[in-house]
Amino acid sequence: VPEGPHNIASMISSQLDPRLVRLLKTATSLADRRGWKAYLVGGAVRDLLLGKSTFDLDILVEEHGLKFAREYARLGKGTFKIYRRFYTALVIFPGGLKVDVTTTRSEEYPRPGALPEVVPASLEEDLLRRDFTINALAVSLNRSSFGRLIDRCGGRRDLEEGIIRVLHPRSFRDDPTRIFRAVRFQQRFGFSIEAGTEELIRSAVSIKMFEAVSPERLRRELELIMKEPHPARAFAAMARYDELRFIHPDLVFSPAQLQSVERLEKDCRWFKKQFGGNGLSAWRMYFGALIWPLGAEELEKTGKKFNLSQKVLKQLVRAKRDEKILSGSLSSPGDLPPSRIFSALEKLDPEIILILMSRFASSRARTRTKDYLVKLRREKLEISGQDLKKTGLLPGPRYRKVLRRVLLARLDGEVRSRRDELALARRLIDKTRND
Ligand code: CTP
Repeated sequence: VPEGPHNIASMISSQLDPRLVRLLKTATSLADRRGWKAYLVGGAVRDLLLGKSTFDLDILVEEHGLKFAREYARLGKGTFKIYRRFYTALVIFPGGLKVDVTTTRSEEYPRPGALPEVVPASLEEDLLRRDFTINALAVSLNRSSFGRLIDRCGGRRDLEEGIIRVLHPRSFRDDPTRIFRAVRFQQRFGFSIEAGTEELIRSAVSIKMFEAVSPERLRRELELIMKEPHPARAFAAMARYDELRFIHPDLVFSPAQLQSVERLEKDCRWFKKQFGGNGLSAWRMYFGALIWPLGAEELEKTGKKFNLSQKVLKQLVRAKRDEKILSGSLSSPGDLPPSRIFSALEKLDPEIILILMSRFASSRARTRTKDYLVKLRREKLEISGQDLKKTGLLPGPRYRKVLRRVLLARLDGEVRSRRDELALARRLIDKTRND
């Protein structure tokens, strides 16, 4: 973070996307015209000071947030949604740019883990209700003070020193999801958690604060962690603070697991490069890897609790059960026909295969698994069910069986053309007719 005057107007214009700069200018003129005080707050300010760009803008308006949102949407030809209970609104501009608009407010937590009761309040109070000092910075948007940094809690210093620090001792009691946010920001920025804050996390965990929070909310926090580039390190921190108990009381994260999840991160990047980044669910993959050490029964229960789909859960249990056999056969020396590799993995989704691959110690098993992901699973036949129909085979499960057998033969190079495929399909059909 560069030293400088307490004004970050130049960072706004140099680091933000020009469309966002324009939206902020619109906010400035709206606020000035109506005599309202408006600020940019939260993650955007933090990221600007860290020299990063951002797309998530949070605008805070003293008293009049909802009116502001309505007029802001109109000026920018966008639409808006109001969440009156929380004094917040979401404004969506053409092109999909979104801005959160909030009225300065304070929150009261009727009980730990419950959603807050929200009342309008001053800017000070609004900043003081927040999670960490680095997220409690505001920047004035009104023209006369545009870009002025408001730092009531030492957020800028903590950003410079790389420290995650709560604003008050009740923070985790107010909102236990913050014990997960702390490790998320810690690993994202490579910061450290200040000793007093660490102590508060441990005490919130030891009084099982998190049991008051629903699995849905916990899942949301976990998903955010899993979308970060290095979830492995966050899992290790969660284990250090004993936070894994809120997923399952017996869950551990051993050094060996840290190693395999770090490998999973790399494999995941490799996979995304191969296939243009689409289609992998970080949640399924990393949550599967995280709960992997549980026994089959607990694995299933925990998957259900966090709403993992039946299909994924079944695959996870199966993969875990067969791990040793699969790793044995895929690492066997000598030639292994591609059809054997295919048969070993064909029932599993890429996420589950990547978990397995990250756990394979043998480089031969890893290479073969990669070969499956890149080549074998995408191999296609030249013939289809239509061709089988023409042979007079009656519709039924035999179609799939015959086609699969032909595919296996193709993978092994035993058939190489449409003619070969048809001939083999006919032989297989005749054989069963005769049987
Ligand atoms: N906030 C909070 N306590 C929470 C969640 C959010 O105090 N449990 C406050 C923080 O000031 C935060 C702001 O609301 O900066 C916006 O929250 P969110 O969008 O979740 O986080 P960001 O800081 O924008 O982080 P990210 O970069 O992950 O979006």
